[in-house]
Amino acid sequence: MCGIVGYVGEKQAAPILLDGLSKLEYRGYDSAGLAVRDGEKNFKVVKAKGRLKQLSEKTNDGNALKGGCGIGHTRWATHGEPSEINAHPHISSYTASDAEANVVGVHNGIIENFQELKAKLARHDYEFYSQTDTEVLVKLVDYYYKKYNMGPIDALAKTIVRVRGSYALAVMFKDYPGEIYVARKDSPMIIGVNEDESYIASDVPAILKHTRNVYYIGNLEMAKLSAGAVTFFNLDGDEITKDLVEIKWDAEAAEKGGYEHFMMKEIHEQPKAIMDTVNKYVKKDGDKNVIDLSEIGLTDDVIKDISQVYIVACGSAWHVGMVSQYVIEDLTDLQVRVELASEFRYRKKHLKPTDLVIIISQSGETADSLAALRESKELGTKTLAIVNVVGSSIAREADYVMYTLAGPEIAVATTKAYSTQLICGYLLALKFGEVRGVITDEEKLKYYVDEIMTISDKVSKVLDDKERLQWFASKYANAHDIFFIGRGLDYAISLEGSLKMKEISYIHSEAYAAGELKHGTISLIEDGTLVIGVLTQEDLYEKTVSNMLECKSRGAYLMGLTTYGKYEIEDNVNFTVYVPNVDEHFAGSLAIIPLQLMAYYTTVSKGLDVDKPRNLAKSVTVE
Ligand code: M6R
Repeated sequence: MCGIVGYVGEKQAAPILLDGLSKLEYRGYDSAGLAVRDGEKNFKVVKAKGRLKQLSEKTNDGNALKGGCGIGHTRWATHGEPSEINAHPHISSYTASDAEANVVGVHNGIIENFQELKAKLARHDYEFYSQTDTEVLVKLVDYYYKKYNMGPIDALAKTIVRVRGSYALAVMFKDYPGEIYVARKDSPMIIGVNEDESYIASDVPAILKHTRNVYYIGNLEMAKLSAGAVTFFNLDGDEITKDLVEIKWDAEAAEKGGYEHFMMKEIHEQPKAIMDTVNKYVKKDGDKNVIDLSEIGLTDDVIKDISQVYIVACGSAWHVGMVSQYVIEDLTDLQVRVELASEFRYRKKHLKPTDLVIIISQSGETADSLAALRESKELGTKTLAIVNVVGSSIAREADYVMYTLAGPEIAVATTKAYSTQLICGYLLALKFGEVRGVITDEEKLKYYVDEIMTISDKVSKVLDDKERLQWFASKYANAHDIFFIGRGLDYAISLEGSLKMKEISYIHSEAYAAGELKHGTISLIEDGTLVIGVLTQEDLYEKTVSNMLECKSRGAYLMGLTTYGKYEIEDNVNFTVYVPNVDEHFAGSLAIIPLQLMAYYTTVSKGLDVDKPRNLAKSVTVE
């Protein structure tokens, strides 16, 4: 989704802003812009539709814009089409002329009452050149600034009291050279500092090469940045203090490191990400590996008290919930409901204080997941977040946080974050089973934990065999439809396999519970339709194979994805992929790898943008 970068310091701002924006490209955007001011002089605003390359060309890689204070933005259209005029920064002057502007700003998020505010401003003779809510927001700041003859912080405070919605807002005032002002609510923003420079960014990679020392600005807070100094304010305009936090990610982790695409790099980082996450929560106790969740604060008493588990998430994170549901229900006495956050938040909920709501989110900023978390808390229910981004909104607001150690994930299509979330789901299931007295046999528990410890190496083995998949994927690059089918846990994996395929290759694909095909979907199968059956669950294997054969007899081409040893599958299917054996509860961690690779190779064969699929954003911070 949209990206923000800001810089104040001695260096020329524009090249730094462009470089920062390039690190946010993965979030998805359709236009970009910069506003820079040179000392006391006016702002210079340059915008371009399309890729950052266009903006770089227009500004001679930023060199044409003089000045050491500026803000930049990549826009993912919400209000108004993707166009140069709608691109940010927006200005407070009545026409689109930057020279006359008092205030210039960029914004991520959505202003829900922008129509009402626009009408109000129009009554005060403001005119609008764009279709965006951001232009309204910037003009509202200008309105309060002028009307009450206020300073920037008071004008911002007045503005944020008046708007409804979410925002990370960065503005510069003509009267305050060398300063950037920011305000935030429900949209990510960090502020970085080093000796004589200050930065803002909507995500860590944008500023990581300049500084690791950041502040997290809270909801309904504001800040003033000048070179090397930051002051924070609450809504009353009073100064507040914040702790400086050191970002531990290393800058290289956010680079491609020799791979052609971030997605392939991240697929290959899975063994390490999985092991790092396992090692965070599995500790040595003598010769035993034991699950230790003390760091999360989830005590045995809390676990024993749980009456029902809800897992709430979006997209791939929701698919992790689907897998976890099967595992938790099988290894504990708990009933689990898996909910799409966008649905959950608007449903009447009958949550009890003894329920546990688990929110899963890579970014920790997904608007619907954050809202679901807040509503659950308001109803007095305990919340546990499985999150990748340290310091993100969901991590900060949940009662308990279980971090995944996936490191920065840049490709829009998640791979390593998904895999580490699965690990957290397994570990929670085992811990719940142990504490609640369902897994009473110590040897059995040890066996499960040891099996989880093997996943990382087994994922590496699957990756070693990727060439066969490359060949197969290139054969199917022109497919119109692909079906992923499975039962139980294999259905949950099919959901993720199908999403991976369609989101980056643009090939229509569906995941179906294999037993459901006969209730409608099988009519879509025709000659040559690729049907991928996921077959890792012994007791459901025969049934899914039968469903696959029903498709074959209607012309489908079958791919079977199963475990080593199940070689008889070759009698029935046209192409087989094997993954190593692991306890069946955890088989999804291995079965998903070939499906990620299939999606990747199919997309590469089609010559599409793997890391930045059309219309998609990495972090969905609006509803
Ligand atoms: O950051 P989150 O995990 O909350 O994001 C949720 C979904 O938007 C995300 O999982 C999305 O479905 C994936 N990028 C798809 O690969």
